[in-house]
Amino acid sequence: MAKLRAFSGIQPSGDLHLGNYLGAIRNWVLEQHDRENIFCVVDLHAITLPQDPKLLHKRIRDLAKIYIACGIDPESVAIFVQSHIKEHAELAWLFNCLTPIGWLNRMTQFKEKTGDRRDQSSAGLFVYPALMAADILLYQADGVPVGEDQKQHVELTRDIAEKFNREYAPVFKVPQPWIKEDGARVMALDDPTKKMSKSGGPNNLIYMLDDPDVIVKRIKRAVTDTGTTVVFDSQRPGLFNLLEIYLLLSKPGTTKEAVEEHFAGKGYGALKSELAELVVETLKPVQQKYHEISEDPNYIEEILKRGADRVRPIAARTLDDAKAAMGLG
Ligand code: AMP
Ligand code: TRP
Repeated sequence: MAKLRAFSGIQPSGDLHLGNYLGAIRNWVLEQHDRENIFCVVDLHAITLPQDPKLLHKRIRDLAKIYIACGIDPESVAIFVQSHIKEHAELAWLFNCLTPIGWLNRMTQFKEKTGDRRDQSSAGLFVYPALMAADILLYQADGVPVGEDQKQHVELTRDIAEKFNREYAPVFKVPQPWIKEDGARVMALDDPTKKMSKSGGPNNLIYMLDDPDVIVKRIKRAVTDTGTTVVFDSQRPGLFNLLEIYLLLSKPGTTKEAVEEHFAGKGYGALKSELAELVVETLKPVQQKYHEISEDPNYIEEILKRGADRVRPIAARTLDDAKAAMGLG
């Protein structure tokens, strides 16, 4: 039986953090051999907010290197940069013309990102979900492995595909959101009611390339409560978040019960130091590999070129079909 095709992407708009890793990349890595995978660095999405051109250029490469450092196998997986394939922007325009404004108005991420500065934000930020739909639908992906915060965007993608297929011709596969229950929402260390995010303050997250002493400090300072027992209790969100991270980074197959048993009779201090050690140990090989592949700048350029060459024919064919169905050209 043919493998199902996964498509996903991350914006090169900041350094990668533990939330991105646990919510997205880790699952890409764990399931890469069971699927056919296309993983994109979505730079056209990054420019929906202002970016420094030099920094953006570097961050695009850094993000692709992190995919590989985390364990994505560039021999079997296509890794590429969104703006290297012109079809993304072109299909996004077709979708802009198909998508009712009302659908976009419902997107919570747009509301969160703009707040009361809606009129100053770029038009690109508003139509961001139509570009994301183009990313996914160009490759006829079966599923989209992402964190919980992207569910609404994947659902909009399904709506756009269905509307196009109904109104013009059945060109697009309707993809599924592939969201794991565990890790789908890693919370901020300094405020466990908010998600860990690049737009939060520096104490809310751990970056994949952080030094061990920074990691230890952030975890020691993580907000908990005045309780004593170390158990998975959703009423104690700070503790719950730390335990979730601990569970996810533990050996595959470890259960919540086993983690609770391990910490029976120990306090929050023990959890924090053992968690810090686990995070440092998990990130050590990732950081090593990242530095190793950074030594030769041509390495990542080659991978990205090869990735784009592999996926371009798929994108070109889908776009041709969509344009023909709409009577363009
Ligand atoms: P972004 O950094 O917004 O481009 O997100 C890249 C990927 O990481 C997406 O699949 C997100 O759903 C996922 N992600 C971002 N923040 C978190 C978080 N705090 N917990 C879990 N997944 C996350
Ligand atoms: N919107 C996603 C995020 O902020 C990034 C993204 C863009 C994406 N295009 C995608 C994710 C296609 C999955 C599939 O995380």
